[in-house]
Amino acid sequence: MKEVVISGIGAYVPSNIVTNEDLSAIVDTSDEWILDRTGIKERRISTGEDTSNIATKAAILAIERSGVQKEDLELIIVATITPDMCTPSVACMVQKELGAKGATAFDINAACSGFIYAIQIAESMMKIHGFKNALIIGAETLSKIIDWKDRGTCVLFGDGGGAVVLTESNTKGIINTFSKSDGSKYESLVAAAFDVENPYALNVVKRNNKVQMKGGEVFKFATAAIVEAVKEVLLNTDCNLEDVKYIVPHQANLRIIDYAAKKLNVDKEKFYVNLDRFGNTSSASIPIALNEMYEKGMLKAKDKIVLVGFGGGLTFGSVLIEWK
Ligand code: UT7
Repeated sequence: MKEVVISGIGAYVPSNIVTNEDLSAIVDTSDEWILDRTGIKERRISTGEDTSNIATKAAILAIERSGVQKEDLELIIVATITPDMCTPSVACMVQKELGAKGATAFDINAACSGFIYAIQIAESMMKIHGFKNALIIGAETLSKIIDWKDRGTCVLFGDGGGAVVLTESNTKGIINTFSKSDGSKYESLVAAAFDVENPYALNVVKRNNKVQMKGGEVFKFATAAIVEAVKEVLLNTDCNLEDVKYIVPHQANLRIIDYAAKKLNVDKEKFYVNLDRFGNTSSASIPIALNEMYEKGMLKAKDKIVLVGFGGGLTFGSVLIEWK
């Protein structure tokens, strides 16, 4: 069975920067509170681009850098909780924009763990079904589902997208993957999809389709989830935590990352952090961070890197990669 490597990476964020001071003008908050409780200073908020536009821009860069022709993409998976439409999938819209006619395209929803789940699915499809080149995207316009009157959530999130091209190879790239969910806690983080308005239903059910989060509950889950996911993905590999050069976590809260570093007994410097500039971009946060590391020249051949996500569902997961 062939191996799977990351052959290209790209990201795109809207140019519009919204600072903590900007948010202080619309809700009762302060730069001091946001920075102290989360580590976030600013985030990018779309001024009109939807998830498919953001996803396409990230994808074009990843494809260019991969050297793979768009006609040779056989699989496109978009991880998102903020699709443009219920149908078609964002993946099919991206497929059209790219002209990647030969691909199977679909979306998945695993909230902030979506990019990790998508990599796991793609790796399996490539290894089992022989797809040779896959485009994996995490992209969100969370600004669409934020309650801009709720200071408990609107200060946390941002818009953006990141993408990788996965290509079959004779050398190892994705060494191991891990994923797990705990649906029993799904009420901790919700955003409803539709109002129930059919003529056979007894009453119209109006739902709150903005993000509602029990922050403390998710915080507790997240700290345990990172630790478990990092340990699990290293199990049964010949790689241990000391061999891992970087951990790229979902960018939700600096305090979650600090806690995980302490629990895992690893140097905080091992964790790559850019949430100060982008906030929490859900499924996009990990590929945006990895792309930034790539652009800074931080990623060297043979580096072992753990990607780790956690979020709504509740879901969590991790990927151990060796950079090519
Ligand atoms: O991506 C999916 C995964 N999501 C996460 O991982 C998020 C996990 N949770 C968190 O990061 C944190 O729980 C939050 C950042 C969301 C909240 O931080 P916290 O330290 O848990 O604050 P809290 O919710 O316990 O609120 C503390 C106080 C409250 O006031 P009182 O009741 O003590 O008077 C809040 O009303 O802070 C207040 N507060 C704010 N004050 C100023 C909440 N939001 C704000 C705000 N500005 N933006």
